[in-house]
Amino acid sequence: MDKLKMQTPDLTDKNIEQIAQLFPNVITETRDENGVVKKAVDFDLLKQALSKTLVEDDNERYRLDWPGEKASLLKANIPITKTLRPCREESVNFDTTENLYIEGDNFEVLKILQESYLGKVKMIYIDPPYNTGNDFIYKDDFKKSKEEYEEELGTTDEEGGKLFRNTDSNGRFHSDWLSMMYERLIVARDLLKDDGVIFISIDDGEQDNLKKICDEIYGEGNLLNTICLENDSRARPYGSLATTHEYILVYSKYQDFIYEILEDTEKEFNDKDDKGGFDLYELRNRNITFNVENRPNLYYPFYVNPNNMDENKLFEISLVNKQGWVEVYPQESQGIKTVWRWGKEKAANNLNTVLFAKEAKNEAGYQIVKKYRAVTYTLNTIWNDKEIKTDRGTLETKALFDNKKYFDFPKPVDLIKRLLKISTKSDSVILDFFSGSATTAHAVMQLNAEELMEEFATKNTKKHENEGNADSEKFRDLSCVSWQKKGKRKFIMVQLPEKTDENSEAYKAGYKTIAEIGKERIRRAGKKILEELATKNTKKHEKEEGKSQKSLFSENKEETFSDLSCLSWQKNLDIGFRVYKTADTNMKDVFYHPAKLKQEELFKLESNIKEDRTPEDLLTQVILDLGLELSLPVETKKMLENTVFIVQTNALVACFDNDIDFKIVDSIAALKPFKVVFKDASFKDDKDRINVEERFKRLSPETKVTVI
Ligand SMILES: C[S@@+](CC[C@H](N)C(=O)[O-])C[C@H]1O[C@@H](n2cnc3c(N)ncnc32)[C@H](O)[C@@H]1O
Repeated sequence: MDKLKMQTPDLTDKNIEQIAQLFPNVITETRDENGVVKKAVDFDLLKQALSKTLVEDDNERYRLDWPGEKASLLKANIPITKTLRPCREESVNFDTTENLYIEGDNFEVLKILQESYLGKVKMIYIDPPYNTGNDFIYKDDFKKSKEEYEEELGTTDEEGGKLFRNTDSNGRFHSDWLSMMYERLIVARDLLKDDGVIFISIDDGEQDNLKKICDEIYGEGNLLNTICLENDSRARPYGSLATTHEYILVYSKYQDFIYEILEDTEKEFNDKDDKGGFDLYELRNRNITFNVENRPNLYYPFYVNPNNMDENKLFEISLVNKQGWVEVYPQESQGIKTVWRWGKEKAANNLNTVLFAKEAKNEAGYQIVKKYRAVTYTLNTIWNDKEIKTDRGTLETKALFDNKKYFDFPKPVDLIKRLLKISTKSDSVILDFFSGSATTAHAVMQLNAEELMEEFATKNTKKHENEGNADSEKFRDLSCVSWQKKGKRKFIMVQLPEKTDENSEAYKAGYKTIAEIGKERIRRAGKKILEELATKNTKKHEKEEGKSQKSLFSENKEETFSDLSCLSWQKNLDIGFRVYKTADTNMKDVFYHPAKLKQEELFKLESNIKEDRTPEDLLTQVILDLGLELSLPVETKKMLENTVFIVQTNALVACFDNDIDFKIVDSIAALKPFKVVFKDASFKDDKDRINVEERFKRLSPETKVTVI
């Protein structure tokens, strides 16, 4: 319910509104005497607007400034003490998966991942709130001191509570959004590989501001493209011009990034010869800016033998005139003599293998053409195909949730798949820290599955062709190796447990937060991908290979493919994910603020670890602290009477049991781990601790022993 203001209106605000109507460009955002950001008039600009001569302004500069920018920068650099807690019950295939779903504020999560994923992410895609005037933005309080920030970042745990609706009547409408984006983009950049890339969806509202902060963070020169996306082709009859597009800004971390070459595996060629399919392209350059005047070396004749035509109706050619052969120069266009694309030497090397002549359609004579066999294609920066329209995204997510709409405007899977195809390798790490309904996770699994199936189809066909050959065994071994490298992209989704509206269908169906929708979407999408591709694969094999080759999913698959078990794409497809949630540190305050505690309180503390924390919680924090990836395989083993965690064979071995005796120390040392971690409280006294270190020095000198 609205509250009465019980005071007269603020006339300054009203005046500013009136000036804004006349001169919108002079309205800016600034702080008042209490440090509160509000709308204000840039008097220098207003002076200029009312003056016929140039008004000198000593502060003139080219850059985007907003109140809160410096505080954001400061915030981006401050360490936090938060951690992640694993949540097995909500995960899928926790022990084997390499995908992560992290619930929490993305700013905190990005900071928590700093050590473990520094320079490891190949591609980031984000689709942040566009600041439409109705979006929920994460609230930051820029009035706070450095210490207060630190305190708040380290202890606040109510992510949902910090969201506020950013309406355009908010005096700091742009500033709040910019600060929110700025600090996150700064921290995210560090996670990118040197040849990494970030794609950011945005619309006209903040595109210009976003571009400016990205120019600052990533460098103007690293803006690779601005993709213009026609997201809705149906213009509504509301006004004169309907906005039907949005953008994707593409920035590379450094110049090292190159787009992946796209292959059209379904491509059908117009013609075929003994080398396979091909299309024909004219050798003539149709662009008249290149002509005989400025490219004289590209203007020369070919000679066509009219009596030697092959089965594709292509004629033999030469660069030397012969009796009865027809001379062909590049055709004129608009009275200008055009030129060939290739010089004489390159043409000579390709005569009658790549270059031929064909009868010109509309006029007498011949055209020189080249055979083009590549299945690669190039995208341009305007994307308007139906697969990537917004309503596709809605339909796809509805289809997964029994035709119910639980999430507004999810991105279409094919859109993200396309971004993945042009920017990632088979084993890349992909991060989306505004994950929403987890379309990016869906797209990663889908692309991995398609890649695995494609690879299987190729290997499978080749294997059958080779059957009976002496080489077939060798081939099988090799194929398994290459096979296992395919479809191994891993995703990291980050999503705030933002509450769903109590009146929404999602809430009524039991999804109390967007994170719950996201997790369920990945579970359902993974299952569906397996089912769909199994069907597709069966049909494809039945259609293409006929009876000679049985489908992987046919009833006889065991018999037919028993020797190809390593090629089962199902086993290689990771549709699982580990769920982690942000939480305050596992350590009691004494760990971070020992000075604040009195001596007698110290004696009362048996352990520096909070009582509610499990050994798996501790392991997660240790993994993060040591800068190891969260997706590493963890084996939980009973050794003697103790529970021991073995992370990636021997990268790290941890035991958080209370009583550590030398027998277990010796057993762990026998594993020769790189790092070993115990609980400080597990040792009776300093003497025991020193003894353990000494034992390791003797039994496994390379091991680094640490306690928490
Ligand atoms: C536009 S949606 C993303 C939609 C997504 N691309 C899809 O296809 O479903 C933006 C999401 O970011 C989430 N979000 C906003 N602020 C966040 C924050 N500080 N940390 C994590 N997630 C946040 C919102 O809850 C929302 O679900």
